[in-house]
Amino acid sequence: MKSAILMAAGKGTRMHSDLPKVMHQVCGKPMLSHIIDNCRKASVERIVTIVGYGHEIVEAAMQNECEFALQMPQLGTGHAVMQATQLENEKGLTLVINGDCPCIQSETLEQLLKECEDADMVVLSAVVEDARSYGRIVRKENGNIDRIVEFKDCNEEEKAIHEINTGIYCFNNEKLFKHLKDIGNKNAQKEYYITDLVEIFNRNGLTVKATIAKNNEEVAGVNDCYELSLAEKWMRAQINEKWMRAGVTFVNPDATYVGTDVTFGHDVTLYPNVTLTGKTHIGNGTTILPNCWLENAVIGENCKIDASRIIDSELKDDITVGPFAHIRGHSLVESKNRIGNFVEFKNNHIGYDSRCAHLTYLGDCEIGSNVNIGCGVVTVNYDGKNKWRTTVKDGAFIGSNANLIAPVTVGENGFVACGSTITDNVDDTDMAIARARQVNKPGYGKAYLDKVRGKK
Ligand code: UD1
Ligand code: CA
Repeated sequence: MKSAILMAAGKGTRMHSDLPKVMHQVCGKPMLSHIIDNCRKASVERIVTIVGYGHEIVEAAMQNECEFALQMPQLGTGHAVMQATQLENEKGLTLVINGDCPCIQSETLEQLLKECEDADMVVLSAVVEDARSYGRIVRKENGNIDRIVEFKDCNEEEKAIHEINTGIYCFNNEKLFKHLKDIGNKNAQKEYYITDLVEIFNRNGLTVKATIAKNNEEVAGVNDCYELSLAEKWMRAQINEKWMRAGVTFVNPDATYVGTDVTFGHDVTLYPNVTLTGKTHIGNGTTILPNCWLENAVIGENCKIDASRIIDSELKDDITVGPFAHIRGHSLVESKNRIGNFVEFKNNHIGYDSRCAHLTYLGDCEIGSNVNIGCGVVTVNYDGKNKWRTTVKDGAFIGSNANLIAPVTVGENGFVACGSTITDNVDDTDMAIARARQVNKPGYGKAYLDKVRGKK
């Protein structure tokens, strides 16, 4: 059995934020989510997150991702692990991970698990230029790890050590729970330190290893918004490099923001200032022009999307969007559509080869194929209390500046004259004209203008 305990109960004082530290986002996802996802990739079965400060927020966001244990008050990282009582009787290996190291990769966790197969505890350390306030790794003469000393408890000699504790460990689960109770709090911060287990395990003749991380940026902790930006930058570079090596063209990778759960086909081109987040997929041959925000957007092949926002929606193949379109609310657009500038779609199903080219709001619609929606069409879907659906069947033509007051249906090959306000259904093949007739008054135009302009 492989388990993990994620320590996430602290406030993160240096973030100067009301949000618990682990909920701050890196590449579009909370720090804690990245760690959970990478634990799962490393085939960890049970994950217990230790929550405390703002626990309701963390629990609500991660409710389907892991188990929780509450730590109130927060008396240190050792005390945090003691709260994971649901793992007390498990056998096997348990990762213990600081919740503030979002960049840790599944390969590194797998390596720790592997190294722990013939040890009782493995500490992931790092050799750094500036050891700042990290805990220091003190090694014995034979090179084995002797103890970890927290910065606030260090003497001058220990402060000079460049090998630090990353806050990521692997334990034999039975030994972990057996010795947790041996941790005391006689130290500068009067806290129960998980790091004391190194000395305790050594004293009890157990095997403790420290293994040095291959990449310092991957294991860096995030304590303030500057360090958050460093994590973001590193992770972005990793994600973008992976996709460029897989054949995605980034015109400027430094200004293109791709989440960890985004996927691509081949021959995709991404222009600068594009953000792709959530479970977004971009199909073969599609180009995303500058200034797009796509969140949980599934885009088919050979589409062109320009300066637009697409959220929780799916677009099939050969579709052009924008500039300045907004597609949201579980819309599904079939192939070969044209969605033009200043068009908003909300919860629509749009059939094959239809057009909606300018200045339009379509909400709660079922639109057929080969439908033309003119400029400035508005579906009036809300009566102040309820939302109603509009149906426009295959081959229909909706003239410019028409209002369709839902619930209403325009039949197959029906025609709505421009400027109409449609309140009643239009049958197949019929034409609806719903506007006042025009009246022309000879000479009235000039007479009126002369009057308002003060001319005789
Ligand atoms: C810890 C390590 C230090 C290491 C550093 C790496 C200890 C005693 N020290 O120090 O050796 O170099 O991480 O970043 O472990 N947390 C709880 N409950 C608590 C206290 C902390 O859940 O009572 C959580 C925090 O939310 C955080 C993580 O544990 O996610 C680390 O806590 P933090 O206070 O940041 O530890 P450091 O002082 O950085
Ligand atoms: Ca920390």
